[in-house]
Amino acid sequence: MSVIKWRESYNTGIEQFDMEHHKIVELIDAMFAAIRDKSSKKVVETVCNDVLSYAAYHFANEEQAMKAVNYPELDEHTAEHTRLKSEAEKIHNTITNNFPEGTVELYRFLREWLVDHIQECDKKYTPYLNKWGES
Ligand SMILES: [Fe+2]
Repeated sequence: MSVIKWRESYNTGIEQFDMEHHKIVELIDAMFAAIRDKSSKKVVETVCNDVLSYAAYHFANEEQAMKAVNYPELDEHTAEHTRLKSEAEKIHNTITNNFPEGTVELYRFLREWLVDHIQECDKKYTPYLNKWGES
């Protein structure tokens, strides 16, 4: 069962990125399950790494698409991705060095990120990327 309930308002309307956002939700859910089940450090670290590396891949895809259409807020959006990555990386280091400290914090951070970033930043690119998505 999914912990994060997908809402209509999370959809950007850009098919590729909606699919990638769904995949991120799946990975964050897997991370939640690992924490809930008090899994070993190795298991929790694996799921954390999965979320973080997929998020980095997804951010790069978004940045490439925004660049391709000369999206006017590309710099702000990229800066926000950088901020999110370094924030997540900081919490991730806590987990690596001080397990299990930081695990719930990272889960919460990622969940909030998903909701806020998609709704506040990602949805702004939709009108610009509609054409890009079709080609
Ligand atoms: Fe984004």
